[in-house]
Amino acid sequence: SGVVTLDPGYKNTGACTSNITFLDGEKGILHYRGYSIEELAEKGNFLEVCYLLIFGELPTPAEIKEFETHIRRYTLVDEEMKTIIDGFPKTAHPMGVLSALTSALIAFNPKAVNPGNEQELYEAVCKLMGKFLVIATWTYRKSKGYPLNYYDNTIGYVENFMQLMFKLPTEPYTANPAIVEALDKLFILHADHEQNCSTSTVRMVGSSHAGLFASVSAGISALWGPLHGGANQAVLEMLEEIHANGGDADKYMDKAKDKNDPFRLMGFGHRVYKNFDPRAKIIKKAADEVLATLGVNDPILGIAKKLEALALSDEYFVSRKLYPNVDFYSGIIYRALGIPTDMFTVMFAIGRLPGWIAQWKEMRLNKEPIGRPRQVYTGYPLREFVPSDKRK
Ligand code: CMC
Repeated sequence: SGVVTLDPGYKNTGACTSNITFLDGEKGILHYRGYSIEELAEKGNFLEVCYLLIFGELPTPAEIKEFETHIRRYTLVDEEMKTIIDGFPKTAHPMGVLSALTSALIAFNPKAVNPGNEQELYEAVCKLMGKFLVIATWTYRKSKGYPLNYYDNTIGYVENFMQLMFKLPTEPYTANPAIVEALDKLFILHADHEQNCSTSTVRMVGSSHAGLFASVSAGISALWGPLHGGANQAVLEMLEEIHANGGDADKYMDKAKDKNDPFRLMGFGHRVYKNFDPRAKIIKKAADEVLATLGVNDPILGIAKKLEALALSDEYFVSRKLYPNVDFYSGIIYRALGIPTDMFTVMFAIGRLPGWIAQWKEMRLNKEPIGRPRQVYTGYPLREFVPSDKRK
């Protein structure tokens, strides 16, 4: 009731209180549960960061062991899910398939979606963490026509990701530890980012008391868009295009600044970071290290650095506080690790899953009301119905 305050895009509207992630956009600060992203990326591992986000504290050795054991217990995906995957054309985008498969999981795990007590919640979390990793890689296996792989209980979560993706039936496979380490760090950097578009979607959908899996499936769709997680794929396609056109970065800078051209410099700008994105800083350094370790010499990295240098000294970008964001350099690492471009946003989703789960859980435990924004109506006033033969 009363006056409705309009705030399209919720630029200044808070929707909840949260004690998961702290972010200061002016200072470029990001903390998960009070720990700095820099320290977590350097000293932590992805699974313990998942635990931290979802349950609030870093796990003890016993707790992380139990968490891992539980996740492993639930990594089997119902055989009938395979017939669903087979229904998709090979050309389907992995993000669409991932969202659909996450929804499909509900049919096979009906009890997990609306956990009623702490134990059920714990199991639902482990189920989603286990099955999600497997189906995420299946979206790729499907597109390649490769047989689907199963989780290997003898190796870790992130190492499993590599094996699930790339192991072929006839050949032995051992993931390169340098790649596993780089991926672990990338997943940590993506693990939560307070009330971003996909997370707000997860909370919003969950606020109607839709289940965890349905809420996450909706979050995947939100993440897919090029202004959000889809930017990592868009960045690499942009860099490839610039490279193919002779590396003329200035031309693309001009396009990005031209208000009559819809083109935007992908991987630049952020709703809340107005100085720098702390994740981008870490990823840029990691990109240099990973390429050096793997002996990859990618001309695209040079183009990215050139674009960044141009933008950082350009009036248009400086005055609008547009800096490289998390998606700007991540694709270069993924590419060096052999991840196909259309899987980049799936990588983001695997990293963001614990954040979505933590936020969904917090929303439900806080007993938040159903999300239901208001509007200001700008359409017709009341008018009379016109029968179809009188319509012009
Ligand atoms: N290239 C050129 N101009 C830009 C860009 C860009 N990448 N980003 C913003 N601008 C301009 C925009 O045109 C506007 O100019 P003006 O004031 O003259 O109208 C001004 O900067 C403010 O932009 P905005 O669109 O009002 O800002 P926003 O907070 O609504 O949007 C954003 C933030 C991230 C959607 C936007 O910066 C963007 O589209 N960036 C490119 C896509 C991208 O990299 N997305 C990933 C975001 S980070 C990770 C994630 O969320 O997944």
